Amino acid sequence: MPSTDDHSLIILKALLKAQDGFVSGNALAEQLGVSRVSVWGRMEQLRSQGFEFEAIRRKGYRISKKPDSLNALLTRAYLKESADYPELLFLKTIDSTNDHASRLLANDYEAPFIVISNQQTLGRGRMGRTWHSPPSSNLYMSFGSRPYVQPNRMQLFTLWMGVYVARHLREQLCLKVGVKWPNDLFFDGQKLGGMLTEARVDADSLRELVFGIGLNVNQTNDDWPKELKQTATSLRELCGEEQDLNKTAALLIEAIFTGYQAFLAGNIRTTFEDMWPEFDILNGQLIEAETRQGNLQGVAKGLDNRGSLILKTTEGKLATLNSGEVHLKRR
Ligand code: BTN
Repeated sequence: MPSTDDHSLIILKALLKAQDGFVSGNALAEQLGVSRVSVWGRMEQLRSQGFEFEAIRRKGYRISKKPDSLNALLTRAYLKESADYPELLFLKTIDSTNDHASRLLANDYEAPFIVISNQQTLGRGRMGRTWHSPPSSNLYMSFGSRPYVQPNRMQLFTLWMGVYVARHLREQLCLKVGVKWPNDLFFDGQKLGGMLTEARVDADSLRELVFGIGLNVNQTNDDWPKELKQTATSLRELCGEEQDLNKTAALLIEAIFTGYQAFLAGNIRTTFEDMWPEFDILNGQLIEAETRQGNLQGVAKGLDNRGSLILKTTEGKLATLNSGEVHLKRR
């Protein structure tokens, strides 16, 4: 039996498909095989979630306002129908979507799944940093899975996923988003998002994998904490207008899922070598790298076949970085 949510989803999809056009109550009732009163009831339920509808006699309904914050039905309605997506778990608030995904995996929750939260109270970045996670403006998502892959295949995973996300953003928003080694989404020298991959490995095989991503969507420059004002940006700042958070959430879900499937499908190394240069924002740039042995300055020269960053130091030596932090230097 279809649930009321299934009916609301079908209504939303029909209304979104009609774009600025109207869909008649009769057409919706027919599509669902229910009465017009029942359609009206579903629309009331959608109104209670922040949707508004314009109704015109003999023409029908159209959406006049969508919810500003994360809405499970609207995100689902935006998803392309062709894929068999993992379970989507929408939360109002959580400490960290990565932590929640890890807890679900540890408790034998069926995978794969994607946790999406409207807010994080303890959002985490790399190296123990805090990830700024206010409600309703940005996206916080974690993909949890139990893949059968050798741990050494994971070296390129975060960068591979970054390329997929950046490519989706380029295609949909015409923004030349790039990837900054080892885990950032960048545009024109500013950070647009970050990725955090965490895995549990037992006796040489991967048991649990969590891929977390934070994407700055509608944050405005005035709202960033002081320390992020110069370095962070959002889609809203870059596109010059507020973005549909749920549409962007659907885009991110599609990118994560297609990226993950392609990663599992075969030998990604050669494909990655072909794709990477187009997204590599560091190549040929003067950078400073923080290493355990101290800071190194030089020009980035791409990646080796394990995903380590190659740096030609100012002394003319080649250095290879497996992990760490790099900063772009203005020449
Ligand atoms: C970084 O740039 O240091 C990585 C940031 C990763 C942030 C995301 S937001 C969703 C997921 N949950 C977390 O606590 N962190 C990741």
